[in-house]
Amino acid sequence: MNDDSPKPARRIRYKGTHPKSFKEKYKELHPEQYAQDVAKVMQQGRTPAGMHRSICVDEIMEFLNIVPGQIGLDATLGYGGHSLEMLKRLVPGGRLYATDVDPFELPRTRERLELLGFGPDVLVVKEMNFSEIDRIAAEAGPLNFVLADLGVSSMQIDNPDRGFSFKVEGPLDLRLNPTIGKSAAELLTNISRYDLEDLLIVNSDEPYFEPIAHAIVSKIAKGTAIVTTTQLQKTIEEALEPIPLDNRKEDVKKSCQRCFQALRIEVNNEFGVLDRFLEKLPDVLAPSGRVAILSFHSGEDRRVKKSFKSYFREGIYSEVAPDPIRPSAEECNTNPRARSAKLRWAIKA
Ligand SMILES: C[S@@+](CC[C@H](N)C(=O)[O-])C[C@H]1O[C@@H](n2cnc3c(N)ncnc32)[C@H](O)[C@@H]1O
Repeated sequence: MNDDSPKPARRIRYKGTHPKSFKEKYKELHPEQYAQDVAKVMQQGRTPAGMHRSICVDEIMEFLNIVPGQIGLDATLGYGGHSLEMLKRLVPGGRLYATDVDPFELPRTRERLELLGFGPDVLVVKEMNFSEIDRIAAEAGPLNFVLADLGVSSMQIDNPDRGFSFKVEGPLDLRLNPTIGKSAAELLTNISRYDLEDLLIVNSDEPYFEPIAHAIVSKIAKGTAIVTTTQLQKTIEEALEPIPLDNRKEDVKKSCQRCFQALRIEVNNEFGVLDRFLEKLPDVLAPSGRVAILSFHSGEDRRVKKSFKSYFREGIYSEVAPDPIRPSAEECNTNPRARSAKLRWAIKA
């Protein structure tokens, strides 16, 4: 029989744990529809792809002490886990402003929270860098609380198109907002060996900064492109070939983590925008307003600590965290991404 009618569209088959491309992973792209699979993955101490597990939620909520009617800001909306907890506490009468620079994940999170009953009357989401926190305060008035959960979300890391992970092939991008600025690949194209060494030292204390910078810059000078995640990973591996075989695998992995982090910090100007955010914070907080900052990198934590202490000495903050709060051992066991987290807080005088 000759049947010319078009075949019905088929859902792409989910091939267990190894679908060919991220776009085929419909479970990861819509985790909310697969509650059982998500629960199973979390029980195994892993983060389901396409989701982000919020860190130190209890500790943050206890400190922020949000009550109905308050107005606050979640400066790093991400998957919206912290926002959701804040929203539950500030209704009725309150309002949450939430910012993120990610133009892809932000609308998905807004929609998810709206489906949970938090529409624009209580949740105002803005695609904006938190360095412009003064613009939020100009609209919202003095803020009772602010949270910043720095760095990247698991959704960003898991999506190969974003280039955050050296474990999967993807464009070497690393921008939180890929529609502005230069990608990591573009940055490498024109960087000098000296500037690259400096970047690797300042942004992530890379001990092998010399051979790695040399390998990258000479490869590009010879006309070999480094424009994908695995091309960079391979270059780092080649640069570390002189390391004895026993330690090499682990050293290469750690250097890859640090180099990707250093490039991410650079292309997103992460230290610069954090400095601006910290400078502006006292002016946007209401008297007795509370701020909590969760950081994952010593360069970030140092900045937060220095700023909080300096404003405390000036009497602008009445109280600051004497020491950083760390996630519980239980949280670190069930969510390894929590292990490097440090939480600091301050209260406006
Ligand atoms: C660790 S995730 C936040 C996760 C979130 N707390 C949750 O519970 O799902 C960090 C988020 O901050 C965003 N981000 C990083 N730097 C930013 C900045 N300067 N301004 C606004 N958003 C930023 C990232 O795009 C990412 O979505």
